[in-house]
Amino acid sequence: MSQLTKIDHPLAAHHLCTVRDKATPCSEFRAAVGRLAVLVGVYATADLPTRSTVIQTPIADANCQQLASPIGLVPILRAGLGMVAPLQDLLPDATVWHLGLYRNEETAEPVGYYDKLPDGGAPHTALVLDPMLATGGSVEMVIRRLKSWGVAEIRVLSIIAAQPGIDRVQRDFPDVKLYVATVDPELNEQSFIVPGLGDAGDRIFNTPPHE
Ligand code: PRP
Repeated sequence: MSQLTKIDHPLAAHHLCTVRDKATPCSEFRAAVGRLAVLVGVYATADLPTRSTVIQTPIADANCQQLASPIGLVPILRAGLGMVAPLQDLLPDATVWHLGLYRNEETAEPVGYYDKLPDGGAPHTALVLDPMLATGGSVEMVIRRLKSWGVAEIRVLSIIAAQPGIDRVQRDFPDVKLYVATVDPELNEQSFIVPGLGDAGDRIFNTPPHE
């Protein structure tokens, strides 16, 4: 079973109130997603391998540590875009690889619509960014694509994850680590997370919800 880390931090609890609240305007929602992405990002990178290096300060040599492996950020369009800039602040040398998926509204199955990953050149470690993990179908499609690309270490960063989606990822990908700000218990008949936060993509980009 893959590892699940639910971050335990009062700032995460506080900012989750903002993203859950249906009265939160778009700009504040986007800002809160960014703050939560930073918090989840700190946990998701806490054990990245480092290597020793010597840095010359203005005073003397200093024994330091720097990241040992290339990191790729993989936002799932659209909502994952809301987590990119905060993670780039933490990982300024990361490459960013976009994958576009939407959920078929009838079946809740993911449909891929954007994938420009090159042949070869996969980063050693990929951080998959998506504020929502519902059925887990979208993340599953992305994990399979990244594995076929050659990514060795895959970590999924999400803000709200539903237990059924977590169970699916843990069952199917025991080597993939999950980092979430909170876990919600269930999905409704439309496969929306309950209580959740609605549609993160629409709330980040101020687009009207689908009928
Ligand atoms: C939402 C969300 C995830 C996916 C989660 O995206 O951002 O990508 O659904 O659902 P799943 O775990 O059941 O696959 P959506 O399809 O609404 O697209 P959007 O980001 O463009 O709004």
